[in-house]
Amino acid sequence: MSDMSKVFSAHAVSVDGYISGRTPDGVDDFGRGLGDAGMLFDWYFDGDTPSQVFGGFKLSEPSARFFDVVADRVGATVSGRTTYEHSSHWGGGGPQPTAPLFVLSHRPAPEISEKQTLVTTGIEDAIAAARAAAGDKDVAIMGGGALTSALAADLVDEVILHQVPVLLGGGRSFFQAVPKHVNLRLLTAIAAPGVTHLHYEVVR
Ligand SMILES: NC(=O)c1ccc[n+]([C@@H]2O[C@H](COP(=O)([O-])OP(=O)(O)OC[C@H]3O[C@@H](n4cnc5c(N)ncnc54)[C@H](OP(=O)(O)O)[C@@H]3O)[C@@H](O)[C@H]2O)c1
Repeated sequence: MSDMSKVFSAHAVSVDGYISGRTPDGVDDFGRGLGDAGMLFDWYFDGDTPSQVFGGFKLSEPSARFFDVVADRVGATVSGRTTYEHSSHWGGGGPQPTAPLFVLSHRPAPEISEKQTLVTTGIEDAIAAARAAAGDKDVAIMGGGALTSALAADLVDEVILHQVPVLLGGGRSFFQAVPKHVNLRLLTAIAAPGVTHLHYEVVR
């Protein structure tokens, strides 16, 4: 484990603060977690600059530059259970091909694969295990509930919002109830076609 290793999150978020939208019938299940909010990820594919990290992504040039630096930092991922389920368990792998996945839950997960690790003993243990696996790279947290838990435990160094100019009006709110104010300092703001990349650090 490196002392320099950071814990951060990077999520696509609407201007009114949702990371997923509504499903037409109100049912929230595997593979449909984004509901009517698919546009949150249009910027992955609406440019002509291929990502050097994620094959198949073609972004605008400013988005590609920002996205690839962030994606390349990830040495391990901690995902909330809901994100894991809504992502169809990433087919037994992880969101990032080269980074091991730690799934945070209070319950058993019979579907967990041998390449994935379930952590049921809390966010501190999940992040400690992910840090150990990440080596000199950083730990990415996925899911609003998981991120909020990590913020409450004062374990988050940076928060990245890929803010998409849409008001969704409903869905899953990104930040849930934090027990006290968390102050953020803006490091960079990059306006790109269809998305603004906002990179904050947590002020301690
Ligand atoms: N727009 C984006 O960039 C983006 C990125 C990621 C996800 N998403 C979407 O966001 C939605 C999911 O986010 P979410 O905020 O609803 O859920 P989440 O953070 O993915 O998962 C929440 C669950 O994680 C577990 N958990 C969280 N904190 C815990 C703790 N301290 N200890 C033990 N378990 C803990 C609990 O699982 P148990 O109930 O099993 O105990 C909790 O119900 C999905 O629809 C997904 O598609 C969007």
